[in-house]
Formats: sequence, C-alpha cells, structure tokens
Amino acid sequence: PIPLPLHGLHVLITAGPTQEPLDPVRFLTNHSTGKMGYGFAHEAAALGATVTLVSGPVNLPEPDEPSIETIHVTTAQQMFEAVQRNYQSADIIVMTAAVADFRVNKIADEKIKKAGRTSIRIELVSNPDILAWVGARKRNDGSQVLCGFAMETQNLIENAAKKLASKNCDMLVANNLRDAGAGFGTDTNVVTVLTPGANDGDDNADATADAMADAPNASAPNIEKWRK
Ligand code: C5P
Repeated sequence: PIPLPLHGLHVLITAGPTQEPLDPVRFLTNHSTGKMGYGFAHEAAALGATVTLVSGPVNLPEPDEPSIETIHVTTAQQMFEAVQRNYQSADIIVMTAAVADFRVNKIADEKIKKAGRTSIRIELVSNPDILAWVGARKRNDGSQVLCGFAMETQNLIENAAKKLASKNCDMLVANNLRDAGAGFGTDTNVVTVLTPGANDGDDNADATADAMADAPNASAPNIEKWRK
C-alpha cells in the first residue's frame, strides 16, 4: 500500500480563542470558533499524521481519531505552556488560534461589584506571542515547517507580510474578516497564502518584488489567493 502523505509526521496545531479571566465569573475573549484548527487536525489525521491539537474553549466535538491528542486550555499562558511542551517533536506547526494579545494584570479573587461606580479601570498586560516564540526556536533546516495565521480588517497583505517575516514563519495564511465567505464561524474561506520569497531562490520572487516596489525595504513574499 502507498503510505499516506503525512505518515510518520507529528503535526502541532493551536485552535480556538483563549479566555482571559477578570474575576471568577468574567473573561475577555474573541469570536474564534476553532473551526479552522479543528479542520486542520482532522485533515492532518486523515493524511496519516499524529496530531497534537492545543485547543482553547470551543463548542466543537472532541476529535475521536486515535491519532489526535487534544489538549484543552483556557488562557494564552496555558496554551503557551502546552506548545512549549510539544513543539520540539513537531514536524509541522500550524497556529490558527486567536490568542488574546492581553490578559488582566490582577485577576480579582471575588466578583467585581458595581458598588455605585460609573466606570472602572482594568489594567491589561501583554501575553506571550506563542507563534513568535516558536518562530525564534524552530529548526531552520527545513525539517520543521511553521505556519501562522493573520486575520485583519485592513492592510491585510502588508500586515501579513510583516508577520511572516517577524515571526519567522514558512507560511502565513491571511484572511480578511470582511471578505464575503470569510470570517469567523464560516464553512467557506478566502485566504491569501504568503511564503518567503526574497533570496530563497524562488523564481516568483522577481514578480512579487516588482509588485512591492513601493515598499523597497520589505522582503517580497510569494502571494497566492485560495478560495474554499
Ligand atoms: O500578530 P497576530 O496576533 O495577528 O498574529 C496571528 C498569528 O499569531 C496566529 O497564527 C496566532 O495563532 C499567532 N499568535 C500566537 N500567540 C499570540 C498571538 C498570536 O501564537 N499571543
């Protein structure tokens, strides 16, 4: 029999949102459903991979493939720790999670009360950037492939190109929240896939370099649009 294309490979995927508590009953989060990451996990398993799925809180069925291990986390810090434990053995790392950029500095022990106040201040501190952390440590000999995601509402390609380079990704999947057929919770998507182009010997590099001539200092990625 022909071996499946991802047979023998370990795929690490982050999925869903994170929840950052304010007090015992409240949290900050976002609209991520986890569909994209869970879709990747099922697909990778079907292609023969062993999958570690690090999932924030989602309303999706637990994958029942024996080759998928799902690790449930709540906060960005917990997601970071799960990724730290699993990234070294991963051949392919796909970070689809919508990680909260900030968490509440001091989580209240008890429920925050209105107590006649008309406003309150909550201080937020930045969370670790998990993708950037992995990007800084991944093997650059081609034996470890890192794919990041970017959802933007403006300057999609420009921001995605920056993330591709600054987070040392091999692939960056950019989706515009406002594209028809894209966005949170949809079964379809329209994405632009960026891969490093400059100085990598790729013959598309010249064309994209021309396209980015007005940003001469940016490295010119290869850009492809995919629709599903
Ligand atoms: O910079 P931005 O958060 O938009 O980058 C999105 C990409 O970075 C996604 O792949 C997301 O999973 C990853 N990310 C991360 N840890 C963070 C923030 C984003 O892994 N704290």
